Amino acid sequence: MVHRHPPEEDHVKLLVTGGAGYVGSVCAAHLVEAGHEVVVLDDLSTGHRDAVPDGCRFVEGDLAEAAGGVLAEGFDGVLHFAARSLVGESVQRPELYWEGNVIASLRLLEAIREHGTPRLVFSSTAATYGEPEQVPIPEDSPTRPTNPYGASKLAIDHMITSYAAAHGLAAVSLRYFNVAGAHGRYGERHAVETHLIPIVLQVASGQRDAVQMFGDDWDTPDGTCIRDYIHVDDLADAHKLALQHAEPGRHAIYNLGSGQGFSVREVIEACRTVTGHPIPAVTAPRRAGDPAVLVASSARAQAELAWRPQRTDLTTIVGDAWRFTQDRLPV
Ligand code: UFG
Repeated sequence: MVHRHPPEEDHVKLLVTGGAGYVGSVCAAHLVEAGHEVVVLDDLSTGHRDAVPDGCRFVEGDLAEAAGGVLAEGFDGVLHFAARSLVGESVQRPELYWEGNVIASLRLLEAIREHGTPRLVFSSTAATYGEPEQVPIPEDSPTRPTNPYGASKLAIDHMITSYAAAHGLAAVSLRYFNVAGAHGRYGERHAVETHLIPIVLQVASGQRDAVQMFGDDWDTPDGTCIRDYIHVDDLADAHKLALQHAEPGRHAIYNLGSGQGFSVREVIEACRTVTGHPIPAVTAPRRAGDPAVLVASSARAQAELAWRPQRTDLTTIVGDAWRFTQDRLPV
């Protein structure tokens, strides 16, 4: 196995799996803007061809089958975003998550090992923790995922830990909390939308009549669930720093959130402010599996990566998502 030498940081060759999806496309765009050479591998099962950023080479293909062939060219690192990521779907059809997330990631890790790719940054999730014992949530909290989505991501984290220890991989897992916002023309667009901010903005743009608030009797100040919304550009900054700080033989894990909690009502109110639309909201039953409060402690990322989230204001996050939504509306 031949390891490429650690590259100069101003120009590296990177494989971005899932670079046609929401977070993957935004991060790929940041990497291209930073001067890196980026190849996107995506099967377009949930991503979009036109979301692959300008300046990236695009390979359409199945991760498990195509990763080896692509990595054989020689890369300085992999950013692994490709995954299934719907909690509800994972409960109904867990086989998709064990196959598409765990098995496919094992194939990727094997290709990384075979071709001596030195670095890996992986999209992990707050869903690896499950119902938190303490809030804000630090990385040494117990990991007890409450659904197959979170369990599949945790299994991959464990695989990565063992590959770092046994094979010298320099690896970082980033555990995202609630990613939101957009980066210009790169943003969130799912065939089936389940996330709060895009749904609320669909009401503002006339695509839905009202937003449902899943429960108003939670043990929180206004009765609705609290989440930690992180701007996707801040997330992309963390990926660039993670690449730079990855150390051979070490698997570092960092939570990424803004460290502030906003309730469902507060999110809807911010969307009203940004859009000027009244956004009708109705109370609906609680959604199965929702914890009342999820807020990250990002102290480790701040200390070790010198990461500082810059766009923590809710109206900034919603404003960027709203511009993205409006730009996509038919004129
Ligand atoms: N919500 C509503 N109405 C909706 C949609 C969502 O009230 O129409 C509420 C949810 O109940 C929750 C909050 O808005 O309280 C945020 O929900 P999202 O679906 O936007 O996000 P989640 O917190 O459920 O999920 C996020 C990530 C997952 C990750 C999870 C756990 O999207 O990938 O956090 O950290 F697994």
